[in-house]
Amino acid sequence: MKRKLFILVAVLVLSTVILAACGGGAPAETEPEPPAEYAGKTNPFSNQAEAATAGGALFAERCSSCHGATGLGDGPAAAALDPKPADLATTASEFEDDFLFWRIMDGGAMAPFNSSMPAQKGILTEDQVWQLVTFIRTLGK
Ligand code: HEC
Repeated sequence: MKRKLFILVAVLVLSTVILAACGGGAPAETEPEPPAEYAGKTNPFSNQAEAATAGGALFAERCSSCHGATGLGDGPAAAALDPKPADLATTASEFEDDFLFWRIMDGGAMAPFNSSMPAQKGILTEDQVWQLVTFIRTLGK
C-alpha cells in the first residue's frame, strides 16, 4: 500500500516537472526591433566625456522629471504615470545604440509602448540625442 502511494506521488511530481519544462508559462518578452530608418545606427560620441556632459545637461532639463536625476525612473512626475518611466540606469546597458536612439527620437506614443514618453524628433538635433545616449550609458556605473 505504501509503495503504491509512493509511486503515485512520484508520477505526480514527475509530470509536473515535465509539464513545466515543456514551455508552460508565457514566452520570454522580447523588445521590438528599431524600424529601418534607425536600425544599425551607432553612437558617434560613444564614451566621449564631453558628449556625456552635454547629454547630462539635456537629461536634467528634459528627462529627469520622469526618469529621475540619476535615471532610476523615480522623477517627480513618475508616480502619476502608467506605464512607469523606465529605470534607465538598469535597462540602458541591455539595449543597442540604435534602440536607444529610436526610443528617444520617437518617444512612447506607439505600440507596443503606448506611454507618455515624449518624442524628441524635431526638438533636439540628432547630435543632441546621441549625447543623451552617451550620458544614459554612464548611468548606473
Ligand atoms: C513624461 C515622462 C517622460 C519624459 C519627460 C521622458 N520619458 Fe523616457 N520614458 C517614459 C516612460 C513612461 C517610459 C517607459 C515606457 C516606454 O518604453 O515608452 C520611457 C522609456 C524610455 C526609454 C526606453 C528604455 C526602456 O527601458 O525601455 C528611453 C531610452 C527613454 N525613456 C529615454 C528618455 C530620455 C533620454 C528622455 C529625455 C529626452 C526621456 N526619456 C524623457 C517617460 C518619460
